[in-house]
Amino acid sequence: MKVFISKSQDETIDFGKNYASNLQPGSVIGLKGNLGTGKTQFVKGVAAYFEVNEIVNSPTFLIVNEYVSNIGSNSGLKIFHFDLYRINSPDELSTIGFDEYFNDENSISLIEWSDLAEKFLNKHLKTVTFEYGEEENERIIKTE
Ligand SMILES: Nc1ncnc2c1ncn2[C@@H]1O[C@H](COP(=O)(O)OP(=O)(O)O)[C@@H](O)[C@H]1O
Ligand SMILES: [Mg+2]
Repeated sequence: MKVFISKSQDETIDFGKNYASNLQPGSVIGLKGNLGTGKTQFVKGVAAYFEVNEIVNSPTFLIVNEYVSNIGSNSGLKIFHFDLYRINSPDELSTIGFDEYFNDENSISLIEWSDLAEKFLNKHLKTVTFEYGEEENERIIKTE
């Protein structure tokens, strides 16, 4: 496990960019941690690496946002950004065809609150964990 101490929102975005540079199409990444620990900032970094045009915000009313990569080597790669915080039960995920997203080999999925959907996610899920640090703008980010 690797531990990164982020001192600012921008450092978390940069960390997400770096992380994205090592991702293979087909990757499914679970993002765990309390509200406000920086999961969405991290996704902004991933999206910046792939030069997506869409604005990245937590999908508040929808469960999933879709972005498209514009970098040459990964052009057309889709990035699915889930936020499961507001689901009432994991069964809601069946109604949106949750598991079908992961069969799309030309995509990367990032799932905030992935712990709420563990029964749909296989053991190959990579997780990134976010915690508050001691200082106001400090966050502790752990990768496997
Ligand atoms: N080091 C940091 N990394 C990420 N966000 C930070 C950091 N320090 C302060 N923040 C603030 O914390 C909030 C994180 O929000 P967000 O990424 O939406 O969290 P989450 O998606 O985990 O609920 C933002 O308002 C951001 O400006
Ligand atoms: Mg969020």
